[in-house]
Amino acid sequence: MIVLVGFMGAGKTTVGHLLAERLGLPFVDSDLVIESRTGRSVREIFAADGEPAFRALEHQIIAELLRGPDAVLAFGGGGVEHPDTQDCLRGSQVIYLRVGYDEAMLRVSHDEYRPLLRAPNLQAIFERRLSVYENVATHVVPTDGRRPEAICLDIIERLVQVPSAPAGTTSVLVSCMGGTYNVHVGAGLLADLDRLLPPLPHARTAVLLAAAPDRPAVTVAQAALRRRGLDVRPIEVPDRQQAKDLGTIAQVAGALADLAIHKDDLIVGIGGEVVGDIAGFLASTYNRGMPLVLLPTTLAAQADAAVGGKASLNLPQGRNLLGTVHQP
Ligand code: S3P
Repeated sequence: MIVLVGFMGAGKTTVGHLLAERLGLPFVDSDLVIESRTGRSVREIFAADGEPAFRALEHQIIAELLRGPDAVLAFGGGGVEHPDTQDCLRGSQVIYLRVGYDEAMLRVSHDEYRPLLRAPNLQAIFERRLSVYENVATHVVPTDGRRPEAICLDIIERLVQVPSAPAGTTSVLVSCMGGTYNVHVGAGLLADLDRLLPPLPHARTAVLLAAAPDRPAVTVAQAALRRRGLDVRPIEVPDRQQAKDLGTIAQVAGALADLAIHKDDLIVGIGGEVVGDIAGFLASTYNRGMPLVLLPTTLAAQADAAVGGKASLNLPQGRNLLGTVHQP
């Protein structure tokens, strides 16, 4: 559970949407849940029932949301002042988006929706809350003068652990629309695949797609995946451009269905551009989307299909005309 806290105008909603999209989690805004449950706006609740009633309801809903399912969860700016809410936060990653008072006012002062913006002692409320935000935070992220994308990447770099790779490996964190993943470049890394894979708590089976010439690589990858407790199913695929088509996809998808491959299982593509695209297209469409790992064995596959999520097929009329974007 990733929780965003901070004053009004800190960017909890804007950054929260980006973060959720890149981490593959739903985004939940506690104020919106309160509004949909009650059928009234936060402003109406403040006006009709008063702030204490709003705070009680806010605590109740936040406590419920924190019990799961996992999400990126943005609190209203006053949500963490409730002591019982602070107790519920144990075990969550709490990101405090820090904003200066003047910048917060520049961002939200024209807003008609937030009832507390008209409070005469607003600056005192702001100052009172600073230590509350600091105390609950597992990460403090400055936001003044920064773009939402930069703030989002800053958070992701703090949250995503880069596995320890053998000496001489270069690891790069890629975070973009649709996914966040590490790219590892180094010699002999295939044997370390088990250590380099991110956590896959629900995967039982890994399907290894590779062409015949890459059988030695399949053997190494297979041993590494087994060390992660996965049942490994190698499937041979063609590596000719002419075979990168819907006919091949239908054939391999049928094999996945025969193996009863589950949505949380893993598709692994070992090979050149053709195999990378076939693996990517299947991972993007089979079960309407599955986790994907790419082990490119050629420079073209590294630069073309492995980074950026390209997953395309050829049509008789032209190459790469049919495809999707699915991040590994
Ligand atoms: C509040 C902040 C608002 C909303 C309510 C009270 C606060 O949420 O929960 O108006 O006490 O700071 P945002 O922080 O999303 O504006």
